[in-house]
Amino acid sequence: MSSQAGSSPQIAGPARVLVLGGGGREHALVWSLTREAEVEAVIVAPGSDAIGEEPKVRCVPGVSATDPAAVLALATAEDVDLVVVGPEAPLAAGVADVLEEAGVPTFGPIRSAARIEWSKAFCREVAAAAGVRMARGEAFWALEPALAYARELAAAPGARGAVVKADGLMAGKGVTVCDDFARAETALRALFAGAPAAAEAEAARLAGRPPVVVVEERLFGAEASLIALCDDHGALALPPARDHKRLLDDDRGPNTGGMGAYSPVPDLPESLCATLVDMIHVPILADLARRGAPFRGALYAGLMLTPEGPVLIECNARFGDPEVQALLPRLAVPLGPLLLGAALGDLAGAAAELGLVGRMLPTTGDAAVAIVLAAADYPETPRKGDLIGGLAEAARADATIFHAGTVRGADGQYRTNGGRVLSVVGLGSTLAAARASAEKAADKVTWEGMQRRHDIAARLPAVADAKAAAASPAPISAAGWEGGKLA
Ligand code: AMP
Ligand code: GLY
Repeated sequence: MSSQAGSSPQIAGPARVLVLGGGGREHALVWSLTREAEVEAVIVAPGSDAIGEEPKVRCVPGVSATDPAAVLALATAEDVDLVVVGPEAPLAAGVADVLEEAGVPTFGPIRSAARIEWSKAFCREVAAAAGVRMARGEAFWALEPALAYARELAAAPGARGAVVKADGLMAGKGVTVCDDFARAETALRALFAGAPAAAEAEAARLAGRPPVVVVEERLFGAEASLIALCDDHGALALPPARDHKRLLDDDRGPNTGGMGAYSPVPDLPESLCATLVDMIHVPILADLARRGAPFRGALYAGLMLTPEGPVLIECNARFGDPEVQALLPRLAVPLGPLLLGAALGDLAGAAAELGLVGRMLPTTGDAAVAIVLAAADYPETPRKGDLIGGLAEAARADATIFHAGTVRGADGQYRTNGGRVLSVVGLGSTLAAARASAEKAADKVTWEGMQRRHDIAARLPAVADAKAAAASPAPISAAGWEGGKLA
């Protein structure tokens, strides 16, 4: 992988960009785009007070990112060259469909392609058709067969429970990893509480309506996120990242949207990632296109690195948050031309103009660690309005701070205004150095009830947990994978 960006002619990137969203992921995207010389203006809807402090940026808080007509009106009035959709909600609301229809280049897939994120059953269907292995699993419209299947999975030799996934847009809260059948039963009964009776469920299935749940075999291994910029058929991957989803150190406590991330991932070498993009992203794109749902945007593959090889456990139709906060500072190429190229269906052309070769985007030599600082009582009922101290000191500590959920008061001070409040990103020549830098800066920030992990990138696995081999009932092979090293 190489870039000759220095010697190539000026690459045509977007001059005016509209970014939709207002969280930490969007702050990172805006931060990245505004650093490109060609980018003259970034409009953000709704944005945030902190995003509005970036140079070249104007936030439009009155426009809802999930209102397709309002977004189209804004994109037209601002004469933007590109719209970049941050979160999944605007995709589900059909914003990309309306923009594309109107001829506005949009990085973010149309609704029928974005469905791969919120319908677990659709994701499995596409993966199966594309020949991409996922955990063994099935979709269910009625409780009794779901219970029977969960019982069967949990009783399989070596199994340690099962996984219950609600089908639908659940903001990352629809998955229950169950240690045993009893827990799976509780989860299933809760999800089917308001669901139709068995006869109606059968009618729903026959009518092709979405199922209530997917029940899956429980896999074991370290996780990694492999996110690629995609246009209909082509994919160009960011380096891999690892999110830390549990609230507390040592992966304890409830699941969250993500409490920190790091990149690179020592047990997922970038040379293997190129192979994985060919095995996972490219066939999935081809299958979506075949269905008349071409995907232009960021396709996020959530992987579990089992001892038998990496297995796809989920797809998202957007950049990961907080993964992208750790990834963008590592990129050694401008993002704007690539996002525009993907939006126009010419990612390959944009990559060629930048002198890129292969499936992976080139990176700087730096490693990155992002630590999320979360509000009191996150993830249940995050408290708002706590005064944040130490932001200036943290910025002086040589870290980059992205705001996810803050608001600036009339006194000019920032207060908490969401679950995940800040991401503090440290860079360094090694993950240890990046971690030290992020920790040092995060230590400066305080507010009442602030929650954070202190072990992001603290323990770096060299290979997948060998003990899990015996626990995985369905061996899955992946060409080139051998215990975290290329064969
Ligand atoms: P998802 O929203 O599908 O990514 O699931 C959220 C989290 O649940 C993942 O990050 C995993 O930690 C876990 N998970 C999902 N599917 C499985 C599975 N088949 N086996 C074990 N854990 C899983
Ligand atoms: N950090 C996980 C996600 O963005 O879905």
